[in-house]
Amino acid sequence: MNELMNHTADMGQAEMFSKAWYNEYFRRAAESPAHARFCEAVYGRDLCQHGMMDVEEMDFLASLLKTGEKVLEIGCSNGHITEHLHEKSACNILGLDYADIAIAQAQARTRDKAATLNFRCADLIQDELPGDDYDVILSIDSIYFMGDYNKTLAKLNAKLRPGGRMIIAAFQVKEDSDPDTILLPGHTRMDEALQALSFRYVQHDFTQNIRNHWIKNYEFSRTLQSEFAAEGNAFLCEARMAENGWFKDHAERGTLVRFMYVIDHNADLAQG
Ligand SMILES: C[S@@+](CC[C@H](N)C(=O)[O-])C[C@H]1O[C@@H](n2cnc3c(N)ncnc32)[C@H](O)[C@@H]1O
Repeated sequence: MNELMNHTADMGQAEMFSKAWYNEYFRRAAESPAHARFCEAVYGRDLCQHGMMDVEEMDFLASLLKTGEKVLEIGCSNGHITEHLHEKSACNILGLDYADIAIAQAQARTRDKAATLNFRCADLIQDELPGDDYDVILSIDSIYFMGDYNKTLAKLNAKLRPGGRMIIAAFQVKEDSDPDTILLPGHTRMDEALQALSFRYVQHDFTQNIRNHWIKNYEFSRTLQSEFAAEGNAFLCEARMAENGWFKDHAERGTLVRFMYVIDHNADLAQG
């Protein structure tokens, strides 16, 4: 993500991905018909997404969750994905995000499900994560924002029950300075961190999905540009365009991969 952040900073969008930026994004996106159409076209279903997970990957993820499991989702935005997974799996889920406007939207929308579906504001870097003994900790395109992968994995691992698991969906790009092997299963930066900490895990390949995702993301942001503008939501479209050129280039060059890592709790690991 650092490479992308540098790239967007070059485009005069240094504040992109900040808490204030995400609040503005979800304040607008929750009410935007153009955004709903964009998500439907790009992801296959409108869940007010801002990550890279399409419906096929989402269905696979839902199939990994078992009824009644205690799940923590980090970086849940305004919780449409969380709510969808809750509906499909009948888990007991707590979603966390630092964008308080997004969390307020999720809480207001799902009040009648609060027995098993909850949302809370938390900064994943600065705050202690609430609760413990989770069966599953879930991260969909949010792990990049927590800094060092090794430290993050240790922090999340400490919140799992023995026998629990983390499910992390993440992309990897190859920049010119990276070895070709970085795109191979077992060799991404996430793999390196997992292996350094002796985690046992399996990884599922969603590379084709993410490459298709960015090509569609690029295409539909342009197709729907005038609709976004007519709503007064050019911000949303520009936000997408600020990143989709960079990702589409990587998708077309074949220098972008994606994996879902399913990681067993490591009882021997102290919190980093
Ligand atoms: C790329 S979006 C992914 C959102 C959602 N998981 C999805 O796939 O559509 C990243 C999310 O992480 C949240 N986030 C980023 N940095 C954070 C931090 N330090 N603490 C808490 N949430 C953070 C953002 O507010 C945003 O909702």
